[in-house]
Amino acid sequence: MHLKPVFAANWKLNHTPTDARSFLQRFLALTPRQQDRTIVLCPSAITLTTVTDGLRDRPDIWVGVQNVHSEAQGAYTGENSVLMARDVGARVVLVGHSERRHVFGETDAMMTKKCALVAQARLTPILCVGETLEERESGAAATVVERQLAAGIAEMDDTQVGAMMLAYEPVWAIGTGKTATPEDASDIHGVLRRALAERIGEKAAAGVPILYGGSVNRGNASTLLSSPDVDGLLVGGASLDPDGWSSIVRSSATSTE
Ligand code: 13P
Repeated sequence: MHLKPVFAANWKLNHTPTDARSFLQRFLALTPRQQDRTIVLCPSAITLTTVTDGLRDRPDIWVGVQNVHSEAQGAYTGENSVLMARDVGARVVLVGHSERRHVFGETDAMMTKKCALVAQARLTPILCVGETLEERESGAAATVVERQLAAGIAEMDDTQVGAMMLAYEPVWAIGTGKTATPEDASDIHGVLRRALAERIGEKAAAGVPILYGGSVNRGNASTLLSSPDVDGLLVGGASLDPDGWSSIVRSSATSTE
């Protein structure tokens, strides 16, 4: 791994503002400033300003949102916009998380619009891609992630693509305790890197962090980070506990490529 590693927490529908305050108190006490890595916290939209307030003295830690609507504003009751996210200090936006795709029925066409909108707002999209178990067993994993990536970057210009992040999260590994092997993760990360290189050239593609997500914990974080083309981790369940998350964000690759 040669990029500055990225450790992103996706809190999903967990942690009220009150929970977030106690989380930060403990997490910040355990986690000194990190120059050589990027840490991102993605709370719910309601909890977000509590988190940005709590991080006023820690600009080394970024905040992100878990989703935005595909339009910048309008009559879309219940949604959150990219402009709102930027206004409250978010720097990144998760786009196309598998729960958005599979629980809320979001489509590749929506990812095209969302990624473009997020990039135009000068926020960093983390485009999430990943195959289901059925797709993996039928040998379609690479085709599926290539299709999802192509849709995500379809309306972004090359500079915007070079400034985004990707997350490979196999659906069968999310919240199940089943982690992709480091080899499986590297294979798909390699597929994504090559697809990026075809679009923006090898040098620019090498600068796009590709995170792995799916049952990451403090026991497997270092091994995953040591795998070729794995530039960071996107963590759900194991990011909720401040002690565990602090240990994950301080982990290093066990060997270098
Ligand atoms: P878990 O780490 O709980 O498997 O969730 C992964 C995920 O979906 C992060 O976005």
